[in-house]
Amino acid sequence: MSEQRTITAFYEQDHDRLDELFKTFQQLKRSDFPKADEAFKEFKFGLQRHIVWEEDVLFPLWEKETGMSEGGATSVMRAEHRQIGQHLEAIQRKVTEQNPDSDQEEQALLNLLGSHNMKEERVLYPGIDRVTSAGERETVFQNMKNISEERYKLACGQH
Ligand SMILES: [Fe+2]
Repeated sequence: MSEQRTITAFYEQDHDRLDELFKTFQQLKRSDFPKADEAFKEFKFGLQRHIVWEEDVLFPLWEKETGMSEGGATSVMRAEHRQIGQHLEAIQRKVTEQNPDSDQEEQALLNLLGSHNMKEERVLYPGIDRVTSAGERETVFQNMKNISEERYKLACGQH
């Protein structure tokens, strides 16, 4: 069963889970702020974790397998991650002030995430599945588990 696990399926599922959390935040921020706040926290932590998984584990593997790093797909993805981080922090500032007027910041994040995730789901993840064996993918999942929570929390601010 675990031999069938693909990068594409796992990472797509995590994208979907994050999309749902963000939707919950947007839907509740004016009616139930504590719940919206909680959803945003989980979203932000989860997205940072997702980015760290990609940058520390997936992208290096792709770069090694394809010999592409500088100027390749992963360098574009890394640059977009920095922008995603900035949008996340902008929303975080409003959430900290308990200010629900973050529609513009949210839209900016959603616009970028939409195209970013699509590129990953259509090109990068299937590409990684193609160039790796089931055993190598299990190593990927194991390496993801070995990353510390502290690393996730720092993820977007440190680059
Ligand atoms: Fe990404």
